[in-house]
Amino acid sequence: MFLKGRDILSIHDLDAEEVEELLQFAAELKIYGRIDATPDFLKGKTLGMIFEKSSTRTRVSFEVGMYQLGGTALFLSNRDLQLGRGEPIKDTARVLSRYLNGIMIRTFGHDRLVEFAKYARIPIINGLSDLLHPCQVLTDLLTIREFKGKHLNNLKMAYVGDGNNMANSYLYGAAKVGMTLTVATPKSHKPNAKVIRQSLADAKLTGAKLSWTEDPIKAVEDADIVATDTWASMGQEDEHEARKKIFAPYQVNKELLSHADKNVIVMHCLPAYRGEEITEDVFEDNAEIIFEEAENRLHMQKAIMAATMAD
Ligand code: CP
Ligand code: NVA
Repeated sequence: MFLKGRDILSIHDLDAEEVEELLQFAAELKIYGRIDATPDFLKGKTLGMIFEKSSTRTRVSFEVGMYQLGGTALFLSNRDLQLGRGEPIKDTARVLSRYLNGIMIRTFGHDRLVEFAKYARIPIINGLSDLLHPCQVLTDLLTIREFKGKHLNNLKMAYVGDGNNMANSYLYGAAKVGMTLTVATPKSHKPNAKVIRQSLADAKLTGAKLSWTEDPIKAVEDADIVATDTWASMGQEDEHEARKKIFAPYQVNKELLSHADKNVIVMHCLPAYRGEEITEDVFEDNAEIIFEEAENRLHMQKAIMAATMAD
């Protein structure tokens, strides 16, 4: 398979052709999945899923995806692993490499993932870190294609809210597919500086137009797609009240969307906090898209697992 043995820690590590291949493969697997005819690419293989944070979609879609591909998935909570009691990452990675065929990890610091991947002999998949959420953004690109057509380089997207793991991954993703993306965040919560630098460099190769603004209205002007995410990510619960005040001007509501293209679609990776980053009416008007986006996690991750782990 085309990504055999590779880690999927960041979209930045994939080239534009590999991103395109993943999008096509996921679309094919979606069709096979719908008729219960998914090939058993991962028969006899086992995926470990290490969770140091909560999850609904990631956990269930990876587990079901692995099952549909003919393999097995093990849920490994940080509370139960010796890792949670201080066993070094480098030892855990070397041990688990001897039992498993791949590992998905959801963690805090991105450096934990990088260290895990350095010592593991099997593919490591980023199921979300404080810095990045690549599986979600690859999924979102698949979803955008379904609703807006294949040519992502003709589309204008706006991300409005916190410069968090989603914002960072959208920058990397848009850069690879040549999309126009404007990110609107407060100055104090811009996307990661290194991610901005690297995505601007990637954008030169594809013609993607990436920009940042403090002004949400400017960002959504004529946008075909508007995406947002929670204002307080996992691990920032203590800041939630303070963040509500900082991000109030960045709510995705009908007024803001009146500046976008009239056929704009709104995306949200979920979980959503209605009345904060998105209003109830905007969420429900776009529910068909948002839940297709959630379903597509399954199809994209099956593509990622088969591409990296199949023989
Ligand atoms: N979007 C997403 O990653 O959802 P979970 O936190 O439920 O996995
Ligand atoms: N930015 C959010 C995404 C949740 C899927 C978080 O990290 O909590």
